[in-house]
Amino acid sequence: MKVLVVGGGGREHAIVWKISQSPKVKKIFCAPGNAGIEKLAHCVPIDPLDLNSLLDLVKREEIDLTVVGPEAPLVEGIVDIFEREGFKIFGPLREAAMLEGSKVFAKNFMKEYGIPTAPFEVFDNSTDAKEYILKSQKESFVVKADGLAAGKGVVVASSKEEALNAVSNIMERKVFGTAGEKIVIEERLYGEEVSILSFVDGETIIPMVSSQDHKAVFDGDKGPNTGGMGAYSPAPVYTEEIHKRVVENILKPTIKGLKEKGIEYKGVLYAGLMITNEGPMVLEFNVRFGDPEAQPVLFRLKNDLVDIMNAVVEKRLHEIQLSWSEYPSACVVLASKGYPGKYEKGKVIKGLENNFGEDVFIFHAGTKKADGEIVTAGGRVLGITAKGKTLKEALDKAYGVIGRVQFENMHYRRDIGEKALRRLGLL
Ligand code: AMP
Ligand code: GLY
Repeated sequence: MKVLVVGGGGREHAIVWKISQSPKVKKIFCAPGNAGIEKLAHCVPIDPLDLNSLLDLVKREEIDLTVVGPEAPLVEGIVDIFEREGFKIFGPLREAAMLEGSKVFAKNFMKEYGIPTAPFEVFDNSTDAKEYILKSQKESFVVKADGLAAGKGVVVASSKEEALNAVSNIMERKVFGTAGEKIVIEERLYGEEVSILSFVDGETIIPMVSSQDHKAVFDGDKGPNTGGMGAYSPAPVYTEEIHKRVVENILKPTIKGLKEKGIEYKGVLYAGLMITNEGPMVLEFNVRFGDPEAQPVLFRLKNDLVDIMNAVVEKRLHEIQLSWSEYPSACVVLASKGYPGKYEKGKVIKGLENNFGEDVFIFHAGTKKADGEIVTAGGRVLGITAKGKTLKEALDKAYGVIGRVQFENMHYRRDIGEKALRRLGLL
């Protein structure tokens, strides 16, 4: 088989790495890829949103399966186009991708089908939104731009002033462009977050092992939100009891609700959950693997990923049984100075040639080759991923690599996995 992976971040490196282990796969293409992916795949400099060029590539190279990493091409309808042309592609159709592409759609959908989520209001003008905030009895709010904003369209505001500011930025200054034409203002939830990614073929839904992301840029969950500074799997906060409630009250009703609406969901469904005192509630849906959650989760997957993806595309996921390594895993992201704001680029990365043993893998995100060296080329640069007999061991192995691999002014969180270690009584 020939497989094309669309995207070029840490998540896509993890997908390519896993696909490269399949005996069925003869050649992997990646568009556009990065300096790490280049070692496993033939990288083609095509933007993930250039759907016509991607389609041409698939026709020219006779690619058997396309796997879409990021959300933007899904929301643009890459799956609709490829399927219309008769090509196999892993990911949801445009209509189903609205679960991530529009927060208003997702919130209204959850309300309609009784899926637990924070109470919310939708606004299409800043005057009404501001009046709502000023009149509210509450002091904290979460303000969300409706459309895609590269993970930055959500402001968790601890005061009315912060919430009013967020409304001004999104609706008046239009910092996210048309993505901010509508906003959702919702109640702030408290608890620990968990990401539950599932494979879905329209009918059958199979959850993967749990993981927990670290969204804030600094230790102690301080500072602005990023795409994710690290993740580990499994998340001890996610007990069997909670899992049952998630399956019954969230995952099953979501697939049933979509079907009732005539929307067939195929691909990975990512439920971003808050485990509150009242139980699990949905913060957001994403229509793809999480980044960095894909790194520790795929690190533990024993199945051939291509078998699963084929089963999803051919709607026979019920034939698949997932099998996982018992070993916990962790991924620590090394980021460029300035990220998630304007960040430095072009710093030489040293130490990548070292051998770190089979329990460690360094997934590349924003990296590229320049003059024979590998340099930084993005906000998130590397995801040091490791597994161990215990989560503590996995974390020690991942952190043990830092220093042996480095670049100037690199920044990383030193507290990945601490919530779990505390919960396990190890801190
Ligand atoms: P979203 O893109 O909707 O997941 O939001 C991004 C991040 O904002 C989440 O991962 C949470 O950390 C935070 N967040 C979103 N909604 C809420 C909420 N209702 N209460 C507290 N935090 C939230
Ligand atoms: N790590 C969060 C996301 O992939 O959206």
